Amino acid sequence: MNQESRIITPAQFDRRSFLRRTGGLLSGAAIASAIDPSKFAHGAAASEEIKIALIGCGGRGSGAAGQALSTFNQGPVKLVAMADVFEDRLKSSLGNLQKQHNERVDVKPENQFIGFDAYKKAIALADIVILATPPGFRPMQIEEAVKQGKHIFTEKPVATDAPGVRTVLAAAAEAKKKGLKIGVGLQRHHQKGYIETIKRLQDGAIGDLHTLRAYWNGATPWVKKRADLEKSAGRKLTEMEYQMRNWYYFTWICGDHIDEQHIHNLDVINWAKGFKYPVKANGMGGCEVRKGADYGEIFDHHAVEFEYEDGSRCFSQCRHIVGCWNSVSEHAQGSKGKSDISRHTISPTEGEAWRHKNEGDKDAYQQEHDDLFDAIRNNKEFSELEYGAMSSMTAILGRMATYSGVEVSMEKALKEGKSLMPPTLAWDADMPVKPGPDGMYPRAIPGTWKPY
Ligand SMILES: NC(=O)c1ccc[n+]([C@@H]2O[C@H](COP(=O)([O-])OP(=O)(O)OC[C@H]3O[C@@H](n4cnc5c(N)ncnc54)[C@H](O)[C@@H]3O)[C@@H](O)[C@H]2O)c1
Repeated sequence: MNQESRIITPAQFDRRSFLRRTGGLLSGAAIASAIDPSKFAHGAAASEEIKIALIGCGGRGSGAAGQALSTFNQGPVKLVAMADVFEDRLKSSLGNLQKQHNERVDVKPENQFIGFDAYKKAIALADIVILATPPGFRPMQIEEAVKQGKHIFTEKPVATDAPGVRTVLAAAAEAKKKGLKIGVGLQRHHQKGYIETIKRLQDGAIGDLHTLRAYWNGATPWVKKRADLEKSAGRKLTEMEYQMRNWYYFTWICGDHIDEQHIHNLDVINWAKGFKYPVKANGMGGCEVRKGADYGEIFDHHAVEFEYEDGSRCFSQCRHIVGCWNSVSEHAQGSKGKSDISRHTISPTEGEAWRHKNEGDKDAYQQEHDDLFDAIRNNKEFSELEYGAMSSMTAILGRMATYSGVEVSMEKALKEGKSLMPPTLAWDADMPVKPGPDGMYPRAIPGTWKPY
């Protein structure tokens, strides 16, 4: 179904005030005259202003916009448009960015867009777009930005299901043809310690990597309780509104924490393996402790064994249970030694051990924007989307393995994995995942849940 026809204006907004706030729909001619899509495809002079749009004005989006604006020492930058589904999120982000970045923030009321299709209008006004909504929406937004010929900084993960990954891979190929520069918020790729360590691993410092481990075992993240949300709204929320506010706990929009969070560690392993991806996975998981209606449908722990084509394996754990052993790290065992990749150490069985010394290394969140804007201004090749998509798919493969309990093939998962997205994006949509009479959401049951 055409995405455009699935998008419905939020039911609780009066249409006239909605159009006033969103500046109305831009006509095709207005979009075309707002920006020449090829303007920066082949490099931007240092004196040229790069216009930025922020889509998804939450915590990370506001941070990423700040980092993009902090590249001003390379040349002028301005935040010119913002889009969010919730007006309160946009306004609070805008207020904070104005305080921190003054005249580099110039988002006129008519360039503040609200709603499910707001992203299209904001993209139209920019040279580069920052995509920082929850990940379920990312494929359609990446596809649109590439269609409009814009450079992209997209947060991770870039999808929550296999059809989404396929959309992103197609967009990545199209973006390359157009010369677009795309950064993905897997910031370890811009962290000196990781870069130096992985370079040594790929140069054979510990021989062939045969056993890898990845962990994101830690605290449980924020939760937005339905009762609190309805109290502050002074009314009942529709199911879509509730799931959008409490997005972390719904797989279609979050991907489960194996995708939303543990992707960082799985991506490091794929990178260490030379941008190779697992061919199959088996695993187990469930929801043992974090129970209750406000914790939706995701698991609180996953343990997965990924197998690569060369027979090497990655053992992965991610857990959101308080009071347990915690670790956020990546490790490699090779035929000639071992490495704690996350601590940037290499310990060969023979010869000298090595450790990266952090000598004022730049914050990776800032460095990734410095590198992306440098690529835009100097027309350097810069495309992180393909590995961003395949690392997202690695996490999705792991989730398919833990939800199903069976061995899942990457090839089949990527080809046949089903869409989790609601068929309609509207505040009154009939949601594919609904609470039962007791308010609890159904969870995947291993042994019963089918991966494809
Ligand atoms: N790279 C990192 O280390 C890192 C750290 C934190 C978050 N993230 C990623 O950033 C993304 C956002 O996370 P966050 O913590 O900022 O969440 P958040 O809830 O604070 O912000 C998300 C924003 O997107 C808005 N939104 C939701 N759907 C939208 C849509 N269809 N169109 C426009 N706006 C929409 C929400 O209203 C909200 O303002 C996630 O993918 C997360 O995984 C990455």
